[in-house]
Amino acid sequence: MEVIIVNDYEQLSQRACDIIVEQVHMNPESVLGLATGGTPLGTYRELVQANGNGKIDFTHVSTLNLDEYIGLDSSHPQSYRQFMKRELFDAINISETRTHIPDGRPDDLEEECRRYEALIEAIGPPDLQLLGIGENGHIGFNEPGSDMDGETHIVELTESTRAANARFFDKDEDVPAHAITMGIRSILKSKRILLLASGERKARAIKRLLQGEKDVNFPASALLAHPHVTLVMDQAAYGMKGETDAG
Ligand code: PGA
Repeated sequence: MEVIIVNDYEQLSQRACDIIVEQVHMNPESVLGLATGGTPLGTYRELVQANGNGKIDFTHVSTLNLDEYIGLDSSHPQSYRQFMKRELFDAINISETRTHIPDGRPDDLEEECRRYEALIEAIGPPDLQLLGIGENGHIGFNEPGSDMDGETHIVELTESTRAANARFFDKDEDVPAHAITMGIRSILKSKRILLLASGERKARAIKRLLQGEKDVNFPASALLAHPHVTLVMDQAAYGMKGETDAG
């Protein structure tokens, strides 16, 4: 694992953007695996700016997002489809038809899982997968105890994940209880993984990861088996004193 420690969230976002820009320069038809949550917001802001400045062209890029809430229509403001539109897609020169996110309200959930995994195979796997890490070590919505060899599937969210995500909803009870997520095996198919961690609240998960703790109750440890992971974190996530957090 390549480990990069930067001072703060701003530097983390800049570094992550630079890595993505390099990837797309190397291959303008790159498939990017994307993530939601607070951590990548700065990276997306930097990418929007880089796109505006002509430093990155998304015309031939395709994207595959990790996950989506079950039960939210893709037009719901808190759906991950709308999050991605707001934070990135609507502000860059990518065609919506090249952006892929699981459907959170399909007629048949199992069929949607199969369709999405087949899509990962058909257009992917991602050249670069952007990834956050949960305080409990989850990746995507693969919570502790998940099948380390799983593909796209339906999960019940843990109380800790629902609590962490409640800040995006008006009321705690509005946070969906289930999600559709790429499995750990699907994530590991990516050619390169760009793992981002910011803020003190991630320090414990990062410490466990860097200690090389392989444990089914710590899903991020599956990344230890991947040949090309780049972890970019700020000092606070590394357990050093730091002020910034992704929010
Ligand atoms: P966060 O979530 O970026 O909102 O901290 C990361 C994650 O839970 O994977």
